[in-house]
Amino acid sequence: MSKRFYLTTAIDYVNGAPHLGHAYEKVIADVIARARRSMGEEVFFLTGLDEHGQKVEQAAEAEGRDPQTYCDALAVQWREFVQNLGISNDDFIRTTDARHKAVVTAVLNRLHQAGHFYKAGYEGWYSVKEETFLTDKDQNPDGTWDPRWGQVVRLKEENWYFRLKEHQDWLLQYLDAHPEFIQPATRRNEILGFLRSQPLEDLCISRPKARLSWGIPLPFDPDYVSYVWFDALINYLSVPVSRGDAGAMAPELGQPATDFAAWPADLHIIGKDIVKFHAVYWPIMLKALGAPLPRTLLVHGWWQKDGQKLSKSTGNVVDPAAVTGEWGLDAFRYYLIRELAIGPDGNWTDEGFRARYNAELANGPGNLLNRALNMLNKYRGGQVPAASRELESDTAQAVAAARSSLEASDLQDALVAIWNLVNRANLYVEQTAPFRLAKDPAQSARLDEVLYNLVEICRILAVMLNPFVPAASAKIWAQLNLPAGELPWSLTAWGGLQPGHQVGAPQPLFPRKDLAPK
Ligand code: ME8
Ligand code: MG
Repeated sequence: MSKRFYLTTAIDYVNGAPHLGHAYEKVIADVIARARRSMGEEVFFLTGLDEHGQKVEQAAEAEGRDPQTYCDALAVQWREFVQNLGISNDDFIRTTDARHKAVVTAVLNRLHQAGHFYKAGYEGWYSVKEETFLTDKDQNPDGTWDPRWGQVVRLKEENWYFRLKEHQDWLLQYLDAHPEFIQPATRRNEILGFLRSQPLEDLCISRPKARLSWGIPLPFDPDYVSYVWFDALINYLSVPVSRGDAGAMAPELGQPATDFAAWPADLHIIGKDIVKFHAVYWPIMLKALGAPLPRTLLVHGWWQKDGQKLSKSTGNVVDPAAVTGEWGLDAFRYYLIRELAIGPDGNWTDEGFRARYNAELANGPGNLLNRALNMLNKYRGGQVPAASRELESDTAQAVAAARSSLEASDLQDALVAIWNLVNRANLYVEQTAPFRLAKDPAQSARLDEVLYNLVEICRILAVMLNPFVPAASAKIWAQLNLPAGELPWSLTAWGGLQPGHQVGAPQPLFPRKDLAPK
């Protein structure tokens, strides 16, 4: 039994509505998951929902519901959202799942018994919205607070603390020794700068039940529930543990070991706003537990629309359902990955989306497939001619480049490599002018060569495109009249189309749309 390639997204706050940012993160993860599967890895892909904490409790209360009923209703919508994006996750965690609560409880007990927690009184400023204590450093010189903190109140209470501080040197050494842990490097440098410039504060991991009851109870102190982030981070571990993953210390945490092996995670895919939780708290929690650390945090940037923050209140939103309804899911997935590398912030514009759709999808693989199948049907009755290897090495180069980009999770670069081949093939049509060759019987063998190269490239493109635009890939495959099924990366080897094979009729992959704005 071998360890799976284990990747996760952040778990979304159930009380917010799913938006472009959530869709983006899931699409990144899905492309990586599909690519890894196609390359023969066994993948475990986890996504889900973060359901505890004050924001959820308050939102439920505002609707006059108990929090669990409220979460159950919203979870249905979130699952649908994930499904409608074609996400191939293997599990879906809700932090209200019994399996999760059991592991969080076990983790809390274990860390408590090992002396990692202490109880202390604290008085300070508290952001209700962000559920976090603030320090004087967070306050503006004039005594006001940044609007992102929402309502800030003075709180005095006893709580449980996790001894983070004493692990600071260890963490710095760990980060130094593992440059791959935080990607891209800009995010790593931010965390290193933060850790080098100030001492860590111990982490408050509890909330008094008197103030907040919607959380996982501390097993060693009935007056408290767990801080929502402490509970949420553990989701990455609780799922493998509940499946009996011994690498995640399943037997010690009370689960019988099975042959399921996923931990440590290979990739935690997260947005730029939650790096500190994943790059500071999470590794220290794991170290205190004695569990191996995840390999890489892959940190993506944030989307804006038309240069402005996404915001429901101002109506500056991109509705994934509306876009996929009008343009198709594949076009949406393609734009997100092609427009924005994983790291910097991105800007959605409807014009940019339309331009890429027409120039890159309709005129790209869409046009290529259409021409290749049309000509093969017209000139050869749809029968694949004798094999030719004219574009084999150009194709092999694109395949190798796309593969190494995919292995590095550099999805935008992988698309660039694939489109180099699309453009090469479209140019080949112009250069070889098959419609002219067809008029000259003496050029019949040359026409065979050209047609073979074109349809063979379409076949290989279907394989490479599969992780990104699974539906379009399946359509190419079907139009080539090849048997439906998985498209492992090994099928990118040249020469898969057999002479004499009968292809189907072309159907538009990405129907051209009017460029004029509506
Ligand atoms: O932070 N563009 O949940 P969340 C791109 N529950 N990504 C965005 C974005 C945008 N405009 N807005 C949000 C939480 N995101 C916690 C996570 S993990 C143990 C707990 C990303 O619903 C954001 O960066 O606020 C995060 O990675 C994810 O969406 C969920 O955000
Ligand atoms: Mg957020």
